[in-house]
Amino acid sequence: EPREATVTIHADKPGPKVQRQIFGQFAEHLGTGIYGGLWVGPKSRIPNTNGFRNDVIAALRAIKVPVIRWPGGCFADEYHWREGVGAPAKRPVKVNTHWGGVTEPNAVGTNEFMNFSELVGADAYVSGNVGSAPPQEMADWVEYMTSPTASTLANERRANGRKEPWKLPYLGLGNELWGCGGNMRPEYAADVTRRYATFVKAPAGTRIMKIASGASDENYNWTEVMMREAGKQIDGIGVHYYTVGESWTHKGPATGFDELSWARILSKTLKMDEYIAKHSAIMDKYDPDRRVWLAVDEWGTWYDPEPGTNPGFLQQQNSLRDGLVAAINLNIFTHHAERVKMANIAQMINVLQAMILTRDGQMVLTPTYHVYHMYMPWQDSTELPVDLASPWYDKDQFAMPALNSSAVRGADGALHVSLVNLDPLQPLTVTLKVDGGNATTLSGEVLTAEAMDAHNSFDNPTALQPRPIAAIPVANGSVTLTLPAKSVTVVALQ
Ligand code: AHR
Repeated sequence: EPREATVTIHADKPGPKVQRQIFGQFAEHLGTGIYGGLWVGPKSRIPNTNGFRNDVIAALRAIKVPVIRWPGGCFADEYHWREGVGAPAKRPVKVNTHWGGVTEPNAVGTNEFMNFSELVGADAYVSGNVGSAPPQEMADWVEYMTSPTASTLANERRANGRKEPWKLPYLGLGNELWGCGGNMRPEYAADVTRRYATFVKAPAGTRIMKIASGASDENYNWTEVMMREAGKQIDGIGVHYYTVGESWTHKGPATGFDELSWARILSKTLKMDEYIAKHSAIMDKYDPDRRVWLAVDEWGTWYDPEPGTNPGFLQQQNSLRDGLVAAINLNIFTHHAERVKMANIAQMINVLQAMILTRDGQMVLTPTYHVYHMYMPWQDSTELPVDLASPWYDKDQFAMPALNSSAVRGADGALHVSLVNLDPLQPLTVTLKVDGGNATTLSGEVLTAEAMDAHNSFDNPTALQPRPIAAIPVANGSVTLTLPAKSVTVVALQ
């Protein structure tokens, strides 16, 4: 007998807007995240548009990627934009000191990335170099990208093939300034942030949101000091939280894990809720009107690298478990929609919890990608509060409610509900009750598999895909369905 849960959706009490930017991506110059994964160069036999893979462009367009953070990560605070503009053959070849010590050809620079973002239909979130470059370098970069004038820098952009300025809605003021971005104390980082923010000038009639480098995990003091000392100069602040296994030295494999590891990863990813709540509470003290965005600009699972790969490339498989991690975090962001206005999963292609894996001309869409596709109605929707009555799932020291959920009113007017069954062994029968709706039919999709580590590979790229659920009638605002063990279900009530 499946166990039972109830979800009450308060459709009559709409909450804040759920911004499409919470479905943002992160593409760093790291491993094959850019070179090979996105960029193959215009002369490649792999079909491409100005050097960018056509298969990847189409897949990213299909999930309406709203924003892409680039060029790092740790890479950002060592990146000098001038080395990535002008004739490709003349660009310096550097060493990527953070990620595998490989050479960085600078083939993908500002023009390439900004044009690529436009091609995908995504906004650009460019991370400026605060750690190892003066403010003037950042100011010049912004002028190069955005100036409509006949300044020398704007004309240089034109000479490099781009007449009109690009839209630059978001600029990051460094990355992880407490670590790879310069090992700064929060007091110093807050002063540096004020200084750099001063020299970012948006052309008349445009706006560039300045996003401060945020804390990691439960480093609440960082958010406190940054908000207190620099809160007025910034428009957003980041926070990074990675889901790792036992520890940073024993992260565990991406596949071939046991039930304890399943439970540990899901339990650790649920911590995101507490971290966001506590960082938000600090922000509320200094910014009660919630002008400043909280951007979860790096998050996702981080496992041991795949055997036989360069450990500096952070390459990992992506299984059904990652699909659940994605859904749980998207539900958490939805519940905090009043403050979390952007999130950027790490990372878009071939790195950490990737949407897409590539090998030469082949491409695989991961379970995480499929979850992003299933959640598309959440983009620019309205959050609806949910109350859950759920049995618990536990494995040794890890215990959590078996059901995880969020609900929204989509831009299409329909009610959309996500139902995640974290229990890897037992199905769950869920009764959905809608307060203030008049839906008559439930339809949707479910992502599940026999194995906890089911995944898509280059030999079997469609092993794991969402499948449709047969329509079920809704009577008097109530409907019951059974969720398979270890599954993500997304339904629409119309
Ligand atoms: O995403 C990989 C790395 O993790 C990023 O470069 C850095 O910001 C973080 O520590």
